[in-house]
Amino acid sequence: MADAIRILVTLAEHADPRLVEQALEGDSSIEVLGYADYFDDWHEFLEQPAELVIVACSADDTSATHMVDRAVKHRPDRPVVVMTESSPNGFLRQAFEAGADDVITLPQPPSEVAFTLQKVIARRKGLSMPGRASASLIAVLGPKGGTGKTLVATNLAVALAQRDANVVLVDLDLQFGDIGLALGLSPERTMYDLMKAGPPFDHEKLDRHLVRHSSGIKVLIAPTRPDQASAVSIEFLRDIYASLRTMCDAVIVDTPPGFTPEVIATIDVSTEICMVGMLDSLSLKNTKLGLETLDLMGYDTEHVSLVLNRADSRVGITPDDVSTIISRSPDVAVPSDREIPRSINEGTPIVAARPSSGAAKAFRALADRYAPAPAPKPAPLPSSSTGVRALIGRRR
Ligand SMILES: Nc1ncnc2c1ncn2[C@@H]1O[C@H](COP(=O)(O)OP(=O)(O)OP(=O)(O)O)[C@@H](O)[C@H]1O
Ligand SMILES: [Mg+2]
Repeated sequence: MADAIRILVTLAEHADPRLVEQALEGDSSIEVLGYADYFDDWHEFLEQPAELVIVACSADDTSATHMVDRAVKHRPDRPVVVMTESSPNGFLRQAFEAGADDVITLPQPPSEVAFTLQKVIARRKGLSMPGRASASLIAVLGPKGGTGKTLVATNLAVALAQRDANVVLVDLDLQFGDIGLALGLSPERTMYDLMKAGPPFDHEKLDRHLVRHSSGIKVLIAPTRPDQASAVSIEFLRDIYASLRTMCDAVIVDTPPGFTPEVIATIDVSTEICMVGMLDSLSLKNTKLGLETLDLMGYDTEHVSLVLNRADSRVGITPDDVSTIISRSPDVAVPSDREIPRSINEGTPIVAARPSSGAAKAFRALADRYAPAPAPKPAPLPSSSTGVRALIGRRR
């Protein structure tokens, strides 16, 4: 058993011990050092020299996130994996927010479980950066096609890079991703190549698959063919998001229209959402539906920014109408600008290509929500001959 992973298993109130046991016993690469339930003396239990802690629970266990939190705080360098029978979206997000490294949905054969645990440990070994907080992950959403999601994602990424943030932009529009095109990048390496390379997704491997744009942002380009797109799994996405978040300051994800399974998985691990709507009644209705869906998923609306694109279009809808239709006012309004299609053709987002335009200002205002603008440079001090003494002298 030299290579067995030594684990501790904590059981929340509604966890099914039989299912948990079935998932863990019988594979020589897992060694369970002990089981404890919610009421046991956790401190002593967690002191044991295990490499990983499992929090087993059902989706109804409200204590599960607290248990994850405790296990993480007890030894932040030791990974924690949640094991659950079902995984509603809100629950997954909470588990990850509490610091879980992964979630295993039961039932699963011990060999699969062992593989996931090995992966988690390998990922930690390759990636852990003590003391470094995870970067924010901003998902750019829009329930309707063509509202300006890609425009917002690319400009937000560049606006943050202009503030010296280290930004990775992910094109999750797996079928029709056009970030490469919008940024004038050739798809030499794509998300599909990264997936084929396989885990562990350490910094070095990720970096090799990112394409650098002249603005400084790094891009994970979408697969180039539809058959490649269907090969991208949720599990893979979760892995790369977790890794990317330890190697940069912000991960921005451009999404396809609607709530596809990949988009839902991204929402689950995101720290912020940027919802993009346009000034026409159909788009506004869909934006409202999108906001309601996030609400149903238990997403905290405080972390949802609303961007109204083409906000100055003269289509007979007033700002008051907008607030009435979607029950909130937009946080940022992006005007229509003929320079936008031009900047896309040039491969340079408008925030860099035309920094003084109204659209660029709007994107900087959006970036303010995630990273404060740099303080203005102090005025140069007067030289000694015309310095403070001279000023004092003049005032006398
Ligand atoms: N504010 C604007 N002013 C001028 N043109 C715009 C504006 N917003 C978007 N466009 C144009 O609309 C097109 C669609 O925008 P974009 O690709 O960002 O939408 P999308 O939501 O990502 O679409 P899809 O759902 O197909 O991915 C762009 O090519 C751009 O030229
Ligand atoms: Mg798009």
